[in-house]
Amino acid sequence: MNIPNLLLVSSNQSSDVDVQSHSIRLDGFSAYYGKNCIVSDINLKLPIKGVTCLVGPSGAGKSTILRWLNRINEETESASFSGTVKVLGRDIMSGYPDVTELRRRVGMVFQQPCVFPCSIYDNILMGLRTQKLSKAQARDIVEHGLKLASLWDEVSNRLEGRADSLSLGQQQRLCLARALVLEPDVLLLDEPTASIDPISSHAIEELVISLGRKISIVMVTHNIGQAKRISDHVVFLCDGKIVEQGTRAHMFSPRCSAKTKTYITEDFCDC
Ligand SMILES: Nc1ncnc2c1ncn2[C@@H]1O[C@H](COP(=O)(O)OP(=O)(O)OP(=O)(O)O)[C@@H](O)[C@H]1O
Ligand SMILES: [Mg+2]
Repeated sequence: MNIPNLLLVSSNQSSDVDVQSHSIRLDGFSAYYGKNCIVSDINLKLPIKGVTCLVGPSGAGKSTILRWLNRINEETESASFSGTVKVLGRDIMSGYPDVTELRRRVGMVFQQPCVFPCSIYDNILMGLRTQKLSKAQARDIVEHGLKLASLWDEVSNRLEGRADSLSLGQQQRLCLARALVLEPDVLLLDEPTASIDPISSHAIEELVISLGRKISIVMVTHNIGQAKRISDHVVFLCDGKIVEQGTRAHMFSPRCSAKTKTYITEDFCDC
């Protein structure tokens, strides 16, 4: 029986992942809603491990990019893309004829938390429905997932309560727990701490740093201080184009471009 090890060790990564040099690769990627080109001709290569922070002003196209990486945007009627997107070495369309495999390997926490109308407990186990788990195993998974997401202390006495009765910040951490128990190879986080208190936010930052040593994390954040604390790489996006990308050391140094410097230091975009 394949019981998730909850990211305590990195043994979940399958051999084909290990031989890939990039978790994600975009070549000439453009994204559209109807006829509107939102993201234009992006080239991006992300390493197999590490934390990449996607920063940039509102409307830059950050969520749009993230939402294509596990094909969730396919469910948005007017959305389309051109170019090539590879995840773990495989084309996201032809390489993943079964989209559920892609979504199992590429977990996502959305900008707007999206919980199922059932209990907290059942929400965590939603993606593991096909696995035969004993009650004790299921309970352990729920507990560990909630602890990783810094939610256990707040909900341990009401696991059977409805998930949609939680606060927004709690729902967001529940979504994180639900994504973590599936042990993804790539984790997409869209502003995961935006509605979370500073203490939980700090715990999630620590979690992201530690997970980033084992898997690839792409995290959108408007919090530049957060990007500086947790990122290995930073991609600065504005108006659907990459202005600059590089290591954290480069992007937060005097060597970065003038546009990056303005955005980072003044929270203002002069692109
Ligand atoms: N479903 C949709 N239909 C049409 N346009 C959309 C849709 N979703 C997003 N857009 C538009 O695409 C552009 C980029 O949106 P996106 O959500 O990717 O930006 P973002 O960088 O994530 O912004 P924010 O930081 O505010 O979350 C915006 O102009 C937005 O209005
Ligand atoms: Mg967004």
